[in-house]
Amino acid sequence: MSDGPRAAPQRFFPQSTRHLLGVQGMHPTRIEPFLDLAESYALMNRSRKTPRDRLRGRTVINLFFEDSTRTRTSFELAGKRLGADVINMTVASSSVNKGETLLDTATTLNAMRTDLLVVRHAQSGAPALLAQKVDASVVNAGDGTHEHPTQALLDALTIRRHFGGLHGLTVAICGDVSHSRVARSNIHLLTAMGARVRVVGPPTLIPGAIGALGVDVHYTMEEGLRDVDVVMMLRMQRERMTGGQVPSAREYFRFYGLDRRRLAVARPGALVMHPGPMNRGVEIDSRVADSDQSVIREQVEMGVAVRMAVLDLLSRAGEPT
Ligand code: NCD
Repeated sequence: MSDGPRAAPQRFFPQSTRHLLGVQGMHPTRIEPFLDLAESYALMNRSRKTPRDRLRGRTVINLFFEDSTRTRTSFELAGKRLGADVINMTVASSSVNKGETLLDTATTLNAMRTDLLVVRHAQSGAPALLAQKVDASVVNAGDGTHEHPTQALLDALTIRRHFGGLHGLTVAICGDVSHSRVARSNIHLLTAMGARVRVVGPPTLIPGAIGALGVDVHYTMEEGLRDVDVVMMLRMQRERMTGGQVPSAREYFRFYGLDRRRLAVARPGALVMHPGPMNRGVEIDSRVADSDQSVIREQVEMGVAVRMAVLDLLSRAGEPT
């Protein structure tokens, strides 16, 4: 049935299941299948036995208007491990004609009959706009400060592997929350799965209205990290800052950097996470990043598994049940 006409998806499934544009409002019954399938792909990756016929004949295009190392590479690996034809397009973004470039590109890609389009763009909402213009399934690989759904899924999977679930855990998301799509997607997904979320950082880097998302806000690490199960650090995103929102890197580390002393107020054995790329010595001390409590490398490993699950499940969205 999977070889049916390309136009079929809309007929069988609501629009939202064809694409992965964000996790806001996503119900646990939609989140769990991604995590469960990713878990089995993680095991297959370790034993180097992946079903290479799963996406055979399908085309995945990675369309990156913004820099990326691990996200782009892991989507590429994910597609290839499932047998898809994967093409990488890195588009230098021009702030003048971004909108035009995006829609022109969409028309071109549509004509090429792409099955899955993985999009990263500096503008929030760009993947959603593309999704309206193309027949392919669109995966948001990070849009501006809005969402980064596959990062939240891989973070959730990493946490779930250590605690067996997410319900009842307390997770502190620390640092540059204002500019972080990782923070926003994690807040939505973790709260949907029953975790308690705190955001911790300087007032200049925490949006005033963030409490409306159901999180607790703390302005000191000493308070914010007390008794948490997971400490998720964020990169300071200087490229998205417009003014003097932060002091020098040294001063930032002094107040908000994660070092062993600060980590000691979290629960014993609390997990340390970071989406990467890390600014060592700015938001995180190397001794913590490389410690036994750090699951940063596991996050990268789960990134491939989660992206395999996402490509797989979205490619099946057109199949009648
Ligand atoms: C994140 C991103 O691009 O939003 N990185 C990633 O996908 N691994 C976080 C960041 O850039 O700080």
